[in-house]
Amino acid sequence: MKLKLNLDYIENFVSPSDLASFDDRLNAAYTALLDGSGKGNDFIGWRDLLINYDKDEFARIKLAAEKIKKNSEVLLVIGIGGSYLGARAAIEFLKSPFYNNMKKDTPDVYFLGCSISSDELYEVMQLCEGRDVSVNVISKSGTTTEPAIAFRIIRGMMEKKYSKDELKERIFITTDKCRGTLKSFADREGYETFVVPDDDGGRFSVLTAVGLLPIAVCGIDIDKIMLGAQNARANYLEKGTESDACKYAAVRNALYQSGKKIELLCSYESAFRYMTEWWKQLYGESEGKDGLGIFPASVVFTTDLHSMGQYIQDGERTLFETVVMQNGAKNIVNVPYDEENLDGLNFIAEMPVTEVNKKAFLGTLLAHNDGGVPNIVIEYETRDEETFGEMVYFFEFACGISAYILDVNPFNQPGVEAYKKNMFALLGKPGYEELGKELRSRIENIK
Ligand code: PA5
Repeated sequence: MKLKLNLDYIENFVSPSDLASFDDRLNAAYTALLDGSGKGNDFIGWRDLLINYDKDEFARIKLAAEKIKKNSEVLLVIGIGGSYLGARAAIEFLKSPFYNNMKKDTPDVYFLGCSISSDELYEVMQLCEGRDVSVNVISKSGTTTEPAIAFRIIRGMMEKKYSKDELKERIFITTDKCRGTLKSFADREGYETFVVPDDDGGRFSVLTAVGLLPIAVCGIDIDKIMLGAQNARANYLEKGTESDACKYAAVRNALYQSGKKIELLCSYESAFRYMTEWWKQLYGESEGKDGLGIFPASVVFTTDLHSMGQYIQDGERTLFETVVMQNGAKNIVNVPYDEENLDGLNFIAEMPVTEVNKKAFLGTLLAHNDGGVPNIVIEYETRDEETFGEMVYFFEFACGISAYILDVNPFNQPGVEAYKKNMFALLGKPGYEELGKELRSRIENIK
């Protein structure tokens, strides 16, 4: 396996008997996920999708990606939450956070519809001026407000640029197989569609067309991603509750029970930043319900040691860290020797920067442990497709198990509706009149 779980740095915080006390719940959670008897069991398609996926659609994804690469300088990906985070994470992790600025023969990729920012929309449209553009709209429900607004605006831009026939070569819709506004619209206009499987929630959908089309457009090998995830699945089935994914799920619950309410996902690579965003949605939306759940937060070190390091070392002791450490690099850079040594750095002259980073990681690990912060460590060698696929499956599988240990439904998100209802009422959406009145009067009274 590409990922190695190291639990040495939690030993002072969780005893073997603390962990053993989770055995029954872990066994029950594993059985529930495997035999499909747990809460939300109509959304566990992701569990076996790597084997059962639609091979014809997979081939169409590759063809569409080739077409976009040939005819476009820019791909706009319109989606929110699980409909964009996985693709963005993959592109930054496997290519670079500077992907759009790099010399390359693949299109720039901009993500829209993941906010309601006027400036963002305007700025991206400016970036499209004079350039050939394709659009991939991704929404399982087909009705989410943020991407719907962005698509309406971008459609206007595209209709000015291209004829109806040209748009059929440039607009790709990823949505429900037969339901929803977006599907009807795509069928009416003759746009190519891809499917978000019925039994997959958005945050578990990166290894479907949702993530794979934008990822493939960037020249990333999606077969290797699937292979990494398949390897992980085979390993977790073979090892049962002894797998690293199950151990991670059990340990984080043991830490939670001991009062560690916040999990910081830490990396020492800026390319990992969007992986942490994807992970926060996965765990936050899956576990944060019924008044329960570890709060998922994230940092990128050493950057954030200079902003959040103080709190982590000395603040309220309710934190634990899960450090995802990359040991190698795609490209090795050394610290050069300098005759004058004015900066005093010759003691690390000729040392690879990866080695400096590793020492920062080890030093931080010990310091945070001394400060009362348990550390789960996950190590990998370098940023490649198989590692990405394995990591996605590791966190998804562990998430399902962990939420079942906590006894919550990992696959729904009822709490997300509250803001939407209020927003619709304040915007005057038909059907929300009474709530609109009530909210406006509350706002007046606060003023
Ligand atoms: O995990 C989820 O299901 C959500 O985060 C969705 O991905 C997000 O709300 C976007 O929904 P949709 O794809 O229906 O537009």
